[in-house]
Amino acid sequence: MITLGEYIIEKQHQFPNATGELTQLLGAIRLAAKVVNREINKAGLVDIIGATGVENVQGEVQQKLDLYANEKFKAALEARGEVCGVASEEEDEFVSFDSARSDSKYVVLMDPLDGSSNIDVNVSVGTIFSIYRRVSPCGTPVVLEDFLQPGHCQVAAGYVIYGSSTMLVYTTGHGVHGFTCDPSLGVFYLSHENMRIPSDGVIYSINEGNYLKFPTGVKKYLKYCQEIDPASKRPYTSRYIGSLVSDFHRNLLKGGIYIYPSTASAPKGKLRLLYECNPMAFLIEQAGGKASDGFNRIMDIVPTELHQRVPFFCGSQNMVETVEAMMREY
Ligand code: AHG
Ligand code: MN
Ligand code: MN
Ligand code: MN
Repeated sequence: MITLGEYIIEKQHQFPNATGELTQLLGAIRLAAKVVNREINKAGLVDIIGATGVENVQGEVQQKLDLYANEKFKAALEARGEVCGVASEEEDEFVSFDSARSDSKYVVLMDPLDGSSNIDVNVSVGTIFSIYRRVSPCGTPVVLEDFLQPGHCQVAAGYVIYGSSTMLVYTTGHGVHGFTCDPSLGVFYLSHENMRIPSDGVIYSINEGNYLKFPTGVKKYLKYCQEIDPASKRPYTSRYIGSLVSDFHRNLLKGGIYIYPSTASAPKGKLRLLYECNPMAFLIEQAGGKASDGFNRIMDIVPTELHQRVPFFCGSQNMVETVEAMMREY
């Protein structure tokens, strides 16, 4: 039984410039994940479910757990000193830590609580994180450019899924590795080394309630998914949890595609490039899959805004390529 801490140290030589800082940083994320996990497990017993009554910069009603997770992850990242700043779905602006004045090199972008509409009903939620090296000089406060880097510059990314078991899944560009938390010990053990997504799958995940607002290419693809063709295992199975982390995790293990396209009312889609799509794109590519905005690779997009949204097509390589072809055609 290898623990997450042991595994990261064992693989530390793979990290750029291997100074141990990224190891410390992932340790901070592990700690915050345990704290948030403990709180989520108590949802329903303590006053942690429900809305705060405040709207976040995304125009969404902030849930109490959105805020709680945001505070815990921010505090854990600030405490260790490797991180000079964070940007979060729940913060209007990026945050510069005092450590930015020393030699800390990393910035973290995060979705502290993904799937927050599912908290109240005991359905899996998650946390998504994305790590970059700052581009501005060490010793100075962080600047917007530190956060507006294309996804291919990520040094690490991952998620925590608070599901039937709690898992932490991450990549540093050397495969995707999953760790399951033993709740009695509070320790993450290596359970899924080198995860690979099948190049074909039979699951499609999309909020089909928005069907009439989808682009024609997506409508054609959905009809294709529903056609009867035993040779290609169609009709496919529709599965949509409404927590990106959970839908992604299932499709990663089983093969499948997740789509949040542009819609007539949201031309750029809903998901956030920096907090949701880039980290998931890094993970899916490392697992042998593909992530696109329907036409182009997600990780090649040069961000212009912190809370930028982007259409998202992510999963098994052949499935993403099939829908991309339909997007181009129609
Ligand atoms: P968040 O809870 O972090 O705001 O993210 C919600 C996202 C994502 O998790 C999920 O897949 C998607 O929104 C669901 O959106 P719809 O309810 O529009 O399908
Ligand atoms: Mn939200
Ligand atoms: Mn989210
Ligand atoms: Mn969120």
